[in-house]
Amino acid sequence: MDTNAWWYINSRWVHPQEATISINDVAVLRGYSVFEALRTYNRRPFHLDAHLTRLYRSAELIDLPVTFDRDFLSQKVREAIERNSYTDASVRMLVTGGISEDGVLPAGEPGLAIMVTPLAARDMQRFAQGLKLITTRLQRTTPEAKTSNYTSAIRALKAAAQRGASDALYVNEHDHVLESTRGNFFVLRGTTLITPQKEVLHGITRETVLALARGVFTIEERAILLSELSEVDEAFITSSSREITPVIQIDDQSIGNGQPGPHTYELEQRFIEMIDKQDW
Ligand SMILES: Cc1ncc(COP(=O)(O)O)c(C=O)c1O
Repeated sequence: MDTNAWWYINSRWVHPQEATISINDVAVLRGYSVFEALRTYNRRPFHLDAHLTRLYRSAELIDLPVTFDRDFLSQKVREAIERNSYTDASVRMLVTGGISEDGVLPAGEPGLAIMVTPLAARDMQRFAQGLKLITTRLQRTTPEAKTSNYTSAIRALKAAAQRGASDALYVNEHDHVLESTRGNFFVLRGTTLITPQKEVLHGITRETVLALARGVFTIEERAILLSELSEVDEAFITSSSREITPVIQIDDQSIGNGQPGPHTYELEQRFIEMIDKQDW
């Protein structure tokens, strides 16, 4: 933890070790809060507008009234980036339900935290090696809302680690493969790129990758059946912090030939080029 970092917590700029919220905040008591995690490249926030739109949408989906407006939040995020010296950083915006009198219902204003942490350079090893994933039975409630309740994700990550895997994919009761604990899921069958559209968080990276793929690959936004995994040639997951990461194994099933695939590599190259040219 960088003790010199500046974070914005409920109207004050403080260092992380002084950053506290009340024990009576329903975020702590009942897990009632929403958040966003965006990243900067070379001190420029990546798709801040899309993250703000999703933050307000998440809050609306769980009936959490946000009393600060978009311009205020946008300005605070930019100020947070300015106040910290990191070239590449993760910026987390957390909106909590606020303090409760009865331990359940929020009684006052929502809380706001903006936390900035440095990000290491892109890990090319991860691109080259790919990930092993496990599947886990779960359908997130209100999947389009980015709430802070990651209890299932934490349990799934622990289960994955026990089985020598790095992450888990959620599979619902209809045998649809949905998303990973913190990323969207894509597969390729030949030159057809497929990703679920329903029952998942609509990732900002997912949108970016679909835009990069248009005109190059055929795109299908549809459910992916668990049984279809034996027929796919490539798979990858996307997220703000880890961009595109190839998947080489799911449970005991190798994906394609068990190596990161050429089309995934092509999309990664397009992604990196877009970032390097600041073309977003
Ligand atoms: C459940 C889930 N799905 C997908 C994503 C990917 O979203 P994004 O690309 O906006 O980071 C995340 C990121 O946190 C997530 O938690």
